[in-house]
Amino acid sequence: MSDFIPLSVPSIKGNEWKYIKECLDTEWVSSVGNYVDQFEKKIAEYTGTKYAVACINGTSALHVSLLLAGVKPEDEVIVPTLTFIATVNSIKYCGAYPVFMDSDCYYNLNTEKTIEFIIKETEMKKTNISGGNEEWRSYNKRTGRCISAIIPVHIFGNAVWLDDIYKVCKEKNIKIIEDAAESLGTKYSKGKLKGKNTGSIGELGCLSFNGNKIITAGGGGMIITNNKKYAEKAKYLTTQAKDDSVRFIHNEIGFNYRLSNIQAALGVAQLEKLGSYIKIKKNNYDLYKKYIQKIDGLNLAAVPEYAVNNYWMYALQIDKERYGKDKKQLMRHLHDNNIQSRPVWYLNHKQKKYKCCQSFFIEEAEILYQETLNIPCSVNLRKESILKVIEKLNER
Ligand SMILES: Cc1ncc(COP(=O)(O)O)c(C=O)c1O
Repeated sequence: MSDFIPLSVPSIKGNEWKYIKECLDTEWVSSVGNYVDQFEKKIAEYTGTKYAVACINGTSALHVSLLLAGVKPEDEVIVPTLTFIATVNSIKYCGAYPVFMDSDCYYNLNTEKTIEFIIKETEMKKTNISGGNEEWRSYNKRTGRCISAIIPVHIFGNAVWLDDIYKVCKEKNIKIIEDAAESLGTKYSKGKLKGKNTGSIGELGCLSFNGNKIITAGGGGMIITNNKKYAEKAKYLTTQAKDDSVRFIHNEIGFNYRLSNIQAALGVAQLEKLGSYIKIKKNNYDLYKKYIQKIDGLNLAAVPEYAVNNYWMYALQIDKERYGKDKKQLMRHLHDNNIQSRPVWYLNHKQKKYKCCQSFFIEEAEILYQETLNIPCSVNLRKESILKVIEKLNER
């Protein structure tokens, strides 16, 4: 299927072969090696954070970050319902419960509603924490559980508006863990966070280098933070919590979550290309936009005006009455013409394992779910392919 147009695939055109060959030639292929160190250093520099700790994937980065932020079994973590399930599962891995929030017009956490929830539905209580100390923590009035963290997810590369919620979370002692799996390269251009990268604002930020992301390591993730203690503990927990590596003493339960040198070599080569990838993705977005806005009933979703976007994934919005086809019918039509598209994730508050958890007035996410299809966005996407997608969108 040579004319197949995939949704989001990697572009391997830089130093990938060279760096991986070096790993093979030197036989440094596993989780210790020069490229792991380089990748961490370069990601920290790029994101403007002090520390970066490589992990096997974005999901493990989220899991460990929640543990570092102090999320305990029976706690609750605020999360948008519209996100990939990995965000939500990482909460469950800690034995905690998600509390689901609605979306805003950029597919992100609806921060206004979330603030309303925090102000009206939670109360502060003095709580015993480790070492016999006490701390004020937020509790959900309805469930009585401690809300220890929130995960804003920068969906499709769109930066979550964190200016207001940041302050509320500080006051309420709710730790912010950013899921920046999809938004490497996105930077705030307005507001109090102007100049800062997504992932660098909360206590911890998590990146993914899965094959469909803006850059890939084959698979991989990264925890970024400005907190030295978190970074040290992240390294400790992701390498089996070794307290004495000679006698195999492990005083905590650790994980085998470290990235391999081969994957890191791929990641380093990809990172060298990130700037050019973002430019290509923006140009392709603009080209799509130019044609899609002429099609009655279709709209290419806008990106936030308060950030410089990485344009990772394009979201096509369908008004089925005006367009004449719904999401499913359009997906089938594109599929029949060798074009891959994807609906947005099934909303997590409706997933079998999460139906029982609390959700707070979910309305906008339902609409976005009904009307959205993601369309091809790979860096390699050629102009002819974009024009073919447009041609097929014009066939009603
Ligand atoms: C929003 C979001 N969070 C988390 C993840 C998990 O990352 P990974 O696949 O690297 O585990 C992904 C991507 O896969 C994602 O898109």
